[in-house]
Amino acid sequence: MNYTPKQIVKELDKYIIGQTKAKRAVAIALRNRYRRSRLPAESREEITPKNIVMSGPTGVGKTEIARRLAKLVGSPFVKVEATKYTEVGYVGRDVESMVRDLVEVAVRMVKDNKKKEVEDKVMPIVENKLVDALFQNRRVTMVDVQREALFDELHSGKCEDEIVEIVVLETPKPMMAFGGNEITLGSMFEGLTPQKHKKKKMMVRHAREALLQEESDKVIDMDNVNEEAITLAEEQGIIFIDEIDKIIGKSQATNSADVSREGVQRDILPIVEGSTVPTKYGNVKTDFILFIAAGAFHVAKMEDMIPELQGRFPIRVELESLTKEDFKKILSTPKNAVTVQYSNLLKVDNINLIFKDDALDEIAEMAARENETSEDLGARRLHTIMESVLEDVSFNATGEHPMLDVVIDRTYVKNVFKDKEQKFDLKKYVL
Ligand SMILES: Nc1ncnc2c1ncn2[C@@H]1O[C@H](COP(=O)(O)OP(=O)(O)OP(=O)(O)O)[C@@H](O)[C@H]1O
Ligand SMILES: [Mg+2]
Repeated sequence: MNYTPKQIVKELDKYIIGQTKAKRAVAIALRNRYRRSRLPAESREEITPKNIVMSGPTGVGKTEIARRLAKLVGSPFVKVEATKYTEVGYVGRDVESMVRDLVEVAVRMVKDNKKKEVEDKVMPIVENKLVDALFQNRRVTMVDVQREALFDELHSGKCEDEIVEIVVLETPKPMMAFGGNEITLGSMFEGLTPQKHKKKKMMVRHAREALLQEESDKVIDMDNVNEEAITLAEEQGIIFIDEIDKIIGKSQATNSADVSREGVQRDILPIVEGSTVPTKYGNVKTDFILFIAAGAFHVAKMEDMIPELQGRFPIRVELESLTKEDFKKILSTPKNAVTVQYSNLLKVDNINLIFKDDALDEIAEMAARENETSEDLGARRLHTIMESVLEDVSFNATGEHPMLDVVIDRTYVKNVFKDKEQKFDLKKYVL
């Protein structure tokens, strides 16, 4: 599915408040990648990919925009912290691990899709095995068991929690290899050692999952999966490089930390420019991978980045600080808004939360104020405030009572913070 920039922005609007410029920029970049991929090879190579740098204070939506974008268009997505490549132990080509990680994500996505495709085909085999297992259970206590009748019982969902014994493949234990890269013994000796089957006891619901996994693995052609995954990563992949500003030293690097930071920029350069990275699934060309970098840029400036890399990030957007009005919208309008999250959580314990508009006003105002007077956490501030507001309810809800309406209004919020705010004021005087 290829979304137009307008469609993308419209979708992002459902989750992210404000930040119109950033949304437009990512939407355009994504579309441009698609446009470029449709060109004939010779003119395509003339056009350099246009990657994005987002700058802005913490908690205003940088990561969220990139993550939502990837989810929306079904792209494989990884997020890396640029600073991790400056750590001791990381040298040179290890920046390529971001591409390897991306391919891993793509493989998982393709595999999941294939699994869904073959599910109908393998389900009868799985159910047969489950019924066999149930049959064994019944025979212990009953003389006359009708195997056929057990299918109905299985379908009725009544025995989901029953413990059955099934035979499944043993999952190989992960092993730590040099350099901390986790590989599995299974993948090293794939095809060399026969895979071991093992009897295991588990609930029917889990047994179904395990058997489904095993049976679909048998019919899915892994070579195809790997090939598709590589194409998916190459054509649709998005790599989010966070804290990019932290690998920018002062111009004219003099101390060793700056030198190492500049080294990381040089290492990243070929990947962003377009190169081939070997992975265990095959070679991956990075030409069409979309890179989105982000950072606060409090100290370092974009202009201090090595020029070659700057050139690969021509689209620069600044995200704005969030206002009280934004906070109020963030509290209630996005599909996954915090108030919705808490309502859903507490419904499990028979509490029906009702947020009054004036409560949202109060919380938003409080967030804006606290961001100003103490550390600026952006929208994350809302989470800390909401946690306090609902602490009492969260602690006391047990689920043993009938459904209860709990109305959160301005007075409720104010009461929660009465004591806290006094302490807050006190602190100001003591300091
Ligand atoms: N504009 C916004 N609209 C809706 N929710 C937002 C917005 N900005 C931030 N949030 C919420 O705040 C949280 C933090 O946002 P995010 O992770 O995007 O911060 P960030 O800008 O990447 O900050 P940092 O520089 O610390 O990484 C997320 O849970 C997100 O849902
Ligand atoms: Mg972030």
